[in-house]
Amino acid sequence: KIYPVILSGGAGTRLWPLSRAALPKQLLPLVTENTMLQETLLRLQGCAGLMAPLIVCGNEHRFLVAEQLREARITPHSILLEPVGRNTAPAVAVAAHVLQALDPDAVMLVLPADHVIEKVEAFHQAIAQAAALAADGALATFGIVPDAPETGYGYIRSGQPVGAAGLRVERFVEKPDRATAEGFVAAGDYFWNSGMFMFRADSYLRELAQWQPAIAQASEAAVRLAYRDLDFCRLDEAAFTSSPSDSIDYAVMEHTSQAVVVPADIGWSDVGSWSALWETQAAHGEANVVRGDVYLDDVSGSLVRAESRIVAAVGLRDIVIVETADAVLVAHKDQVQRVKHIVEHLKDKQ
Ligand code: GDD
Ligand code: MG
Repeated sequence: KIYPVILSGGAGTRLWPLSRAALPKQLLPLVTENTMLQETLLRLQGCAGLMAPLIVCGNEHRFLVAEQLREARITPHSILLEPVGRNTAPAVAVAAHVLQALDPDAVMLVLPADHVIEKVEAFHQAIAQAAALAADGALATFGIVPDAPETGYGYIRSGQPVGAAGLRVERFVEKPDRATAEGFVAAGDYFWNSGMFMFRADSYLRELAQWQPAIAQASEAAVRLAYRDLDFCRLDEAAFTSSPSDSIDYAVMEHTSQAVVVPADIGWSDVGSWSALWETQAAHGEANVVRGDVYLDDVSGSLVRAESRIVAAVGLRDIVIVETADAVLVAHKDQVQRVKHIVEHLKDKQ
């Protein structure tokens, strides 16, 4: 049995000023009328063999998450609440502990709550392929053919075929520097890690215990001492807080010898920045990506979003304008990676 585990705890700071601590990227309707979390769950419908999902999120987002699930008519297995963020390695670990108690043969389908996947049927097929590899004990990743030396991704060097559709992972490098990333893209046998994973809960926990025993112990205690309240599972605060903070990529995937990659041509984007959002939507043939009450005259290649007021722009190329009630972003589309520094600056000011 396959249990989707949805990671919904990130901050999405590069999508400021829309994405905020109280209402981060995954809980926003960025691409469609549904929020990213809702889209993540709805696109699993019709995929064979999936059980009810587990959601892992910050305690402060519990009501928003529960409400968004209700609205999308999704009944979760449970919503695991983190008292503090400890990144993805512990988040996946607590879900693994919950599942192992429920079903010793549980296979986890770990999905970020904030990605776009356009080819849903191909995605379902990739899940079926990864499931077969996961059942045999592998830690399966989904590989995306890279088209630029992005430094915000993990890179997977693929090797010999394994099973019907997989390749062994020769090397996993999380967030390389620019020069290294350029080398990987030029080499031709590297994939981007999509950030989605499939493995048996016990396979992940075994690798975690080997490479990160402190995370394994803290997450085990956080679940053992958890307080259950309807759908919510409140992880024990002291235990979870004591866990080291690390991502699954650095903590496990860079070390394990059990990793495989399933190449996945699924129309994937992690919508990490305003320019990435522009790209996923402009791909549908529009010069500008517009939302809300917007007036444009001689504007092209731009993303303009009005949340609470009228936004008018004249004679602009490749600009991002995002208006919200209390903050406005105006940036060149090629520079939007720097938006995260604005958030750091504002944090320091407080
Ligand atoms: N529950 C929970 N708790 N979720 C979290 C936490 C946490 O503490 N931290 C992050 N997440 C969620 C995010 O909301 C996102 O959905 C997912 O986990 C991945 O976290 P990111 O912080 O967005 O990771 P990343 O984008 O830097 O890198 C990962 O994704 C890339 C592809 O988008 C890595 O897996 C890379 O290797 C990969 O290329
Ligand atoms: Mg991400």
